[in-house]
Amino acid sequence: MRQMADQLNEVIPNSDIVAALERLGRDISARYAAGESVVAVCVLKGAFMFFSDLVRRIEAPLRLEFVRLASYGDATSSGDLVFSKDVETSLTGKHVLIIEDIVDTGRSMDFLKRTFEERGPASVRIAALVDKYERREVELTVDFPAFTLEQGFLVGYGMDFAEKYRELDAIYELVRDGAESSS
Ligand code: IMP
Ligand code: MG
Repeated sequence: MRQMADQLNEVIPNSDIVAALERLGRDISARYAAGESVVAVCVLKGAFMFFSDLVRRIEAPLRLEFVRLASYGDATSSGDLVFSKDVETSLTGKHVLIIEDIVDTGRSMDFLKRTFEERGPASVRIAALVDKYERREVELTVDFPAFTLEQGFLVGYGMDFAEKYRELDAIYELVRDGAESSS
């Protein structure tokens, strides 16, 4: 058995993330009427760092909520998603801002947005650190993307591979050395 080393190539330095946060904070703040309160929903675990940096830059009264999604059955199937943790407040009549790390096929955010819309909110919008569109399977609008990329597997700034690298303060592309299976 051979040890496989992950290779990390920095693709978005922290300074670019900070600039994107400033821009998104302004865009989001401008989208809501003055004094309008917003329920900001962090999608755990991946969005935790983006969420905590972004909410500090939104000029609106916020309530912070956290959800966690889990899929059951075949991971490659069309997405039988459930909440392993739901919000702890009613969304009826509220402006909801979902804050996610990365939108890939779009199935997770499509599920979450539809589920929230059934609860009668005033609006549901999505902010994502990365809008990665090559593998998109459903039509979904990311209202506030920090970065738009075509492809690549990313880690850092909350995003993981097998629970590693979430703590890094920049975004890296993960290149797995020895993609062939070793045993
Ligand atoms: P979707 O339902 O295919 O859009 O899945 C999005 C979820 O897959 C994200 O919330 C991540 O948890 C995970 N994911 C997709 N692409 C990446 C990536 O490049 N790095 C880390 N996680 C990813
Ligand atoms: Mg995620």
